[in-house]
Amino acid sequence: LASIEVDVSNVAEGQQIKVMWRGKPLFIRNRTDKEVEEAKAVDISELRDPLARNLNLPADAQATDENRAAGGAEGGGADLGEKLLIMVGVCTHLGCIPLGESGDFDGWFCPCHGSHYDTAGRIRKGPAPENLLIPPYKFTSETVVTIG
Ligand code: FES
Repeated sequence: LASIEVDVSNVAEGQQIKVMWRGKPLFIRNRTDKEVEEAKAVDISELRDPLARNLNLPADAQATDENRAAGGAEGGGADLGEKLLIMVGVCTHLGCIPLGESGDFDGWFCPCHGSHYDTAGRIRKGPAPENLLIPPYKFTSETVVTIG
């Protein structure tokens, strides 16, 4: 199947679920307020990859937290607001699966060669060149999202 439908209403704050999409894991995380605050506090000019890498936005969209979060720029997920993050769980270095709530930036850590991603899934340290990819999706209700 090209697209999948996920009900995100059961993802508690501070939790992440993993679903498979086109043979790849997707991370769907309901971030804590602290994680959102940390992500928003980052100076975009300090990022290795300044692009949002969000397939729902223009290719040159900046990697702000708003442009990465599912309740951000492209709307949808109103109940979850800016807290929800939907990403392809594949390290942009050589394709390992990063671990959640890990690394120096409180986000994801890829144990294969030590890439650290922040709480918006942006690459901050290590060999990976790009932020974790955000797949195309659309909310069909407040809590149900169709991905792909
Ligand atoms: Fe993730 Fe190399 S595959 S750091």
